[in-house]
Amino acid sequence: MRARRLSLLLVGLSGCLQPIGFGTKQGAPVDDTGGSSDEPAKDPNAPVPTKIADFVEFLGSRGYAAYPTTPTALVPTGPHGVAAVRGYYHPTLAASLEAGNLEHPAGAGAVLELFKADGVTRFGWAASVKLGDFSDLGLNWLWLEAIESNGEVKVLEAGEGLGLCVPCHAAGDDFILGIGR
Ligand code: HEC
Repeated sequence: MRARRLSLLLVGLSGCLQPIGFGTKQGAPVDDTGGSSDEPAKDPNAPVPTKIADFVEFLGSRGYAAYPTTPTALVPTGPHGVAAVRGYYHPTLAASLEAGNLEHPAGAGAVLELFKADGVTRFGWAASVKLGDFSDLGLNWLWLEAIESNGEVKVLEAGEGLGLCVPCHAAGDDFILGIGR
């Protein structure tokens, strides 16, 4: 059920980037430009990095910018972010959520942008990517939390099956909790 509700929040998968709809717990609008205008377009179908160093670079360059997302940031329902969070779901994961799957395929990945009290200034990310077709109780997911500091990405937590992340996310469908619930 949760996955089905979440799927309503996701942008259509047919290359159409129009929002389908979103929950009522809407946060402040967030700059959606993804950086400077001369930034090269990101391919949303490129695999989510599975190595921590690559993932850090991917976050800093907003490699997830073209992933299906909600139209705006939303008020967080968990420990992430201060005033707002915005979830980006790799097309593989978005399709799986859309289908209402309780298990997602390898390569499914999500990035949650975290915003400060003003609701628009991003200060970091929480992210996850599934490393194989079996979750193995969350051990087969790479978990990562990082903050931006002076234009640099600093990793706070990173690793497979992180005990800090897994127990809470175990409540979701295959460790994806969803936003705007
Ligand atoms: C106390 C519970 C809790 C813990 C612990 C937690 N999360 Fe989350 N997480 C959430 C909730 C709730 C959401 C849904 C978004 C929201 O409402 O903020 C979420 C969303 C996410 C998302 C977006 C994909 C999804 O599941 O919807 C990622 C990625 C994520 N968290 C990564 C992490 C990482 C990495 C850690 C460990 C460093 C972690 N989380 C620890 C509760 C938690």
